[in-house]
Amino acid sequence: MSYLVAIDQGTTSTRAIVFRAGLDPVAVAQREFAQHYPQPGWVEHDAEDLWATTVATVSEAMARAGLKASDIAAIGLTNQRETTLVWDRRSGKAIHRAIVWQDRRTASVCADMKAQGREALVTEKSGLLLDAYFSATKIGWILDTVPGAREAAMRGDLAFGTVDSFLIWRLTGGRVHATDATNAARTLLYNIHDGRFDEELLDLFRIPGSMLPEVRDNAGSFGETLPQFFGGPIAIRGVAGDQQAATVGQACFTPGMAKVTYGTGAFALVNTGSKPVRSENRLLTTIAYQLDGVPTYALEGAIFVAGAAVQWLRDGLGIIANAAETQELAERADPAQNVYLVPAFVGLGAPWWDPEARGALHGLTRGTTRAELARAALESVGYQTRDLLAAMRRDWPAAAGADTVLRVDGGMVASDWTLQFLSDILGLPVDRPKVLETTAVGAAYLAGLAAGLCPAPDEMAKHWQLGQRFQPEMDEPRREAKYRGWRDAVSRVLTDPK
Ligand code: G3P
Repeated sequence: MSYLVAIDQGTTSTRAIVFRAGLDPVAVAQREFAQHYPQPGWVEHDAEDLWATTVATVSEAMARAGLKASDIAAIGLTNQRETTLVWDRRSGKAIHRAIVWQDRRTASVCADMKAQGREALVTEKSGLLLDAYFSATKIGWILDTVPGAREAAMRGDLAFGTVDSFLIWRLTGGRVHATDATNAARTLLYNIHDGRFDEELLDLFRIPGSMLPEVRDNAGSFGETLPQFFGGPIAIRGVAGDQQAATVGQACFTPGMAKVTYGTGAFALVNTGSKPVRSENRLLTTIAYQLDGVPTYALEGAIFVAGAAVQWLRDGLGIIANAAETQELAERADPAQNVYLVPAFVGLGAPWWDPEARGALHGLTRGTTRAELARAALESVGYQTRDLLAAMRRDWPAAAGADTVLRVDGGMVASDWTLQFLSDILGLPVDRPKVLETTAVGAAYLAGLAAGLCPAPDEMAKHWQLGQRFQPEMDEPRREAKYRGWRDAVSRVLTDPK
């Protein structure tokens, strides 16, 4: 019983990774699943795809590692956050496809509520903004759209959950309807100060309290899988939203430590310790992790397009064959050209929160080639990170101060060029860990902590291993001139320039 399995149910694929108790990976399995775009701005997942890929990847990873259920001490589950499922308690079937975090269908509901002056109360209690990104208005949409759903919910026949809750429900055969504090904190319904779902918020969004899962610590007990799924029962002992799991996997346990994960989008979290820091700069106040009933808070900045800008070069423009090519193109781009890509393909996230903004290429000349476009795509990730860290620093000076080292992970950090630029434009050292699977490491660690296989956070932090540190090399005038150019480019796409 000395192995741990991390399930990472993400936006485009589900992964399962088997770890030894020392948190070194042994075997991986991954399955992509269909994305559904029923209308512009709408994004859905089929609940059965999320379920089937979960069972398949865990079974496959265990088979690859040559392990049986009885060899696994615990499962740690981490997931795309905010994505909303409502299912029938008797059948366990979702009554609508999952509405994905990226989905904008409730933007007008949020705009109306904001116009009625509701945002201050929501932010005060949940730490979030009144935005379609979060779960509450997505639940409301399902209840108002699926015939009979609201009545069924009032009768107590329906359950709501983010992806973690749904998978826990399925894995335990409906015995456990639970979530963890980090996922609960993304619903807009959870009071992050009191540590419970909030009656006033439930009334505001018209969500029956009977639908909600029980909220537990990140390391704890979430039931056992039914024996038929993996050839024997396995305890589920760790659960966390994926960005919070990465924060744990990066061992950001001390206030002031920050990580950024670069996937499709990018998410920066800075640990602010035992006190929630209220943002004046439209960042999110959220829970980094909760252990033994004690929450540790974080400030979070979310940007919607990071790696997706590189995908656009490949799939939209067709000017690269694969993501790795961008690095070599960026290296030979003309330093004299100041080409900026503002990748506001789905609006802009933090700190702008402008859903109607759209992307732009700025500074093109007759001499611009795909090399400058590739460089602009990689640089946009650095500039957006600087926007986030600057907002964090304004909210909380201990964030991203002069002695901060930023820990980074996610698919894009394979590119040395990107990380060197990031360090240059931030003027801060950037650390890439040795094990890049930080989200899965975090989930496995939380499960291992609960199962008594992994040490306390302080001790775990000592074992975090650096892969490579990138130090700023760009001189200050050039750094500031480049960043001014970015801000100018952004100001041209904002629908309400600040
Ligand atoms: O908030 C959304 C985030 O949790 C999604 O992460 O890695 O599945 O794109 P990812």
